[in-house]
Formats: sequence, structure tokens, C-alpha cells
Amino acid sequence: MKVHGKPTRTLWLEPDGQAVGIIDQTRLPHAFVTARLTTLDEAAHAIRAMQVRGAPLIGATAAYGVWLALRADASDAALARALAVLGDTRPTAINLHWALDEMRRLLAPLAVSERVAAAQRRAAELCDEDVAINRALGGHGLKLLEAAWERKGKRGRLEVLTHCNAGWLATVDWGTALSPVYLAHDAGLPVHVWVDETRPRNQGASLTAWELGQHGVPHTVIADNVGGHLMQHGRVDLCIVGTDRTTAHGDVANKIGTYLKALAARDNGVPFYVALPSPTIDWSLRDGVKEIPIEQRDGTEVSDITGRLSSGDIATVRVTPQGSPTANYGFDVTPARLVTALITERGVCAASEEGLRSLFPERARR
Ligand code: MRU
Repeated sequence: MKVHGKPTRTLWLEPDGQAVGIIDQTRLPHAFVTARLTTLDEAAHAIRAMQVRGAPLIGATAAYGVWLALRADASDAALARALAVLGDTRPTAINLHWALDEMRRLLAPLAVSERVAAAQRRAAELCDEDVAINRALGGHGLKLLEAAWERKGKRGRLEVLTHCNAGWLATVDWGTALSPVYLAHDAGLPVHVWVDETRPRNQGASLTAWELGQHGVPHTVIADNVGGHLMQHGRVDLCIVGTDRTTAHGDVANKIGTYLKALAARDNGVPFYVALPSPTIDWSLRDGVKEIPIEQRDGTEVSDITGRLSSGDIATVRVTPQGSPTANYGFDVTPARLVTALITERGVCAASEEGLRSLFPERARR
């Protein structure tokens, strides 16, 4: 995607070959700031502090984090430590563990002298694969948007609601939920996106709104609780969200609040689609509500809000009474029965074991 007209990915090898470049997403939308990661600890910090976030981007950053670690020490012990440190950064997105497993499988059998170059090559490949996968799933999702536009009689705007940020900032490029939206916009469909603000970290208000704006996609930021009202009044044609972990039976973990949107969508007959690259599928899990680990973050993310003052300064203010306890659950699980369909790089399928295995037959249980 482009930032100020310039093609940009969220993660890159710096031209000097000595560091990984990232967009510091904690600074958006107020400032577009890039940062250099040069060590394992910097990569782990970037993931934990959400300078990079979004399931696919967390995985890609972790892969490069392994490379950064091995540059300092490529021994077996250092590899094991890097995998452990990075694996411990955030608990819900399975892409993190998927990427680390890929790196471990490749690197562990290699001679120590071969590991650094191999790690860099594989991390770069994983990034390119992520871009290709997200572009492909965007093409499949586009057909759903086109069909919705036809059903609507091509009148007015195609109204899409999304939650959190599952755009290109959450991946290496293109995004998951927003990939079909970008393709639809580019194809001339009059798409308009309702952007849930996504408290407490405001990924919708800060990131989704910013990237849609950069691409010229019409959008409106709404408070998190507005979606149900809009759906009751026929103002949403379809919902699309991303996911951090989808079970083999099609249950979907995504940013906290997604479940409530899916309930409202079901009650109002609005299609609820989930877009995911296959590394987001956790084939080992069935029951998402019981089995997917849900991240809990610091309560200050709930009690405090950061924003830009009219002076231009960035400030953090408290919105809760001094001393009121807070709870900060990062994700929830939407059961497969509330998901109209899953959009993957191999096509669209039912959110079910049969649906997923029809697209990924190599995963069929023997
Ligand atoms: O806490 P975040 O910002 O990492 O959460 C991101 C999401 O919930 C996204 O919707 C999800 O990772 C899918 S993105 C392609």
C-alpha cells in the first residue's frame, strides 16, 4: 500500500542489511515514524509494546527477530532462547508460533555457520508469502463484495463494517479484512466502511481510519457500541473482520468486541465474514471459547486514553475514577455458528471443520 503516495510495507530489511525497519504503529495516526530493530530484545519489545501488531505482522516480525538474535549468537542455546523470548511476547495470535515453528524447523538442523543467512532468507520469504496470501484472499473476498453490491441493486453505497485493524498495517501488506475492501474500491465499487473505534487501544480509530484515508476509501469512525444500531436500520450490508486464531472447527478469536458484532449481525440478517491467511488456523484446537488463550493487558489501557491536544502535543489522560479497578481482555471468541463464511487465500468456505478441510485437504485427519 502507499503512504503519502509511496509504496510501503510494514516491515522491511533496511538498505544497509543490518536491521529490520518497522512503522512504529504506536505513533499513528499523529505521526508516521519508522524505527530500526537490531536485536532480539528490540524485536520482542516491538511486538509486546504493539509497535507492530496484527497477527500476520507479529509472525513476520518474530521471524526477523530470530535472525537478529542469531546474528549475535547462532548457537543451539541462542536459537532456543530466541524462540522462547519471542514466543512469550503475545499469547493469542497463533501466527507468532507458526512463524517461530517455521524458523525452528529450518534452522535447528543446520550447521551454526549456515544459520544467519538462512534465517534472513526465510524471514524475507515469509514476508513475501504473507503479501501474496493476503492479495489472494482479497480476490476471493472481492467476489463476496461484488455479490453484495448486486444484491443491493447497485444503489447508494456498499456499507461494510469492520472491527479493530485488519488492514495492511496488521500484515506485511494488503491486510486481511481490508484486502477485499481495497480491491473493491480500486475496481470502482462505492464502498464505505464503518470503522469501530476499538477501545481500549483504538486500533480502528487510529489505524484503520488512517490507512483507509491514505488509500482514499470513504469511511466513518463510530464508537464501539454503534454497530448494532446501524444494523437494525439497514445501514450495514456486511461485516468483515480479521482473526488472530481460528480453530480447526471455525471458531474465531479476534479483537475484543468482535463477538458482540457477530451477535448483532446474526440478529439482523447481516452477513458476517472473517478473512484469514492459513497460518492463522490452529489445526490443533476445536473449541475456541474453551481453548484459545485470551491476552489480558495492563489495566491502564482501559483507565487512560492517549490523544493529540489542539496544541499538537500528545497527552494521556485518565477517564476512570482514581482507584477503580479495570480489566483488560484483548480478544474474544466468535463461535463458528455466527460466522457466515471464512475467506482464505484458497477461497471461501463454511466456518466448520468440513469447510476448512475442503480448502486444505492436506490437513485431513488420517
Ligand atoms: O491487538 P492487535 O492490534 O494485535 O489485534 C489485532 C486484531 O485483532 C486483528 O483483527 C487480527 O490480528 C487480524 S489482522 C489481520
